[in-house]
Amino acid sequence: MKLLITGGAGFIGSAVIRHLIANTDDHVVNVDKLTYAGNLEPLAEVSDSPRYAFERVDICVRDELERVFHQHQPDAVMHLAAESHVDRSIDGPSAFIQTNIVGTYTLLEVSRAYWNGLGIERRDAFRFHHISTDEVYGDLEGSEGLFTEETPYAPSSPYSASKASSDHLVRAWQRTYGLPTLITNCSNNYGPYHFPEKLIPLTILNALEDKPLRVYGKGEQVRDWLHVEDHARALYTVVKEGQVVETYNIGGHNEKRNIDVVHAICKLIDEMRHASFNFLPVCRRLYLGRLQERPSRLRRRKPVKQKKILFNYKELTEQVSGSAGEHRHCINRINQLHF
Ligand SMILES: NC(=O)c1ccc[n+]([C@@H]2O[C@H](COP(=O)([O-])OP(=O)(O)OC[C@H]3O[C@@H](n4cnc5c(N)ncnc54)[C@H](O)[C@@H]3O)[C@@H](O)[C@H]2O)c1
Repeated sequence: MKLLITGGAGFIGSAVIRHLIANTDDHVVNVDKLTYAGNLEPLAEVSDSPRYAFERVDICVRDELERVFHQHQPDAVMHLAAESHVDRSIDGPSAFIQTNIVGTYTLLEVSRAYWNGLGIERRDAFRFHHISTDEVYGDLEGSEGLFTEETPYAPSSPYSASKASSDHLVRAWQRTYGLPTLITNCSNNYGPYHFPEKLIPLTILNALEDKPLRVYGKGEQVRDWLHVEDHARALYTVVKEGQVVETYNIGGHNEKRNIDVVHAICKLIDEMRHASFNFLPVCRRLYLGRLQERPSRLRRRKPVKQKKILFNYKELTEQVSGSAGEHRHCINRINQLHF
């Protein structure tokens, strides 16, 4: 099978590509614009594979996408390219509307034209897998209850609204044109090569550099944490075995308050530093950096009541090797822990 993966130079896309090249015989075409969030370093180990190709292309540019489809003849699309950081979407929503909505629309149209031109067998087997977020469901009040695939959409930030829009477009292209689509909505990922604007890597880097550690308000927002390599395996299962038209929630069964995640990181870094350094405990600096809560930040999210049991999340991920330098080493060690 040849998979066209958009956003393959991002945090999750690169984990999916590493998984595919290491564990399957499939071919991969990585279509990525290389925004500030794109990074080819996590793909160094696969870049020489004859089963891997990279195309630096913006998903909003139709001509370029058409060329890539024509040249590579994919059997399935896994669409991960997006603007993905909530705080950036509050400060500047325009790029989110462009990539997440217009880009998804453009990719759907190019995929539809390509799919229409396939022979019957390849047409039947073709899949368009859209990777989305649990943030489309909004907020859960209190500590009980779970999001299900039937929970009504209630996005609260420009990011989640743009992702909700793209989910609706994908469903519409299935209903209207019959394009064989699948959607997955996952919770917060963590793991190797996470961009250091997100909570876990940012906290690790700030702690290592003796900067204040920042949480919104009292850090009581609850998030469900999913290891990126578990997510990569789940996505591959869905694109191979999922039912066309279906939506699958993917969660980690691993809810934590942000403040508890930060405390866990502090504890680990302090333990590591005691082994080789003699710094002040990181936890003492924790309360220096509280940020004012933003109105569109969600208090509790948990999308883990999957209606179809496809995955076993109890599997732990293997050790991630190949670390270089103290920062990368600490990030890898901490990111691979299941809190
Ligand atoms: N990271 C999470 O915790 C999380 C949680 C739920 C859902 N998601 C979704 O998963 C997907 C991947 O997330 P991520 O964390 O890997 O994102 P990321 O920000 O790390 O990577 C996004 C990638 O898309 C590329 N890109 C951006 N705009 C593009 C464009 N116009 N054309 C081509 N490429 C473009 C970037 O260069 C980057 O490589 C996103 O759709 C996101 O909404 C992520």
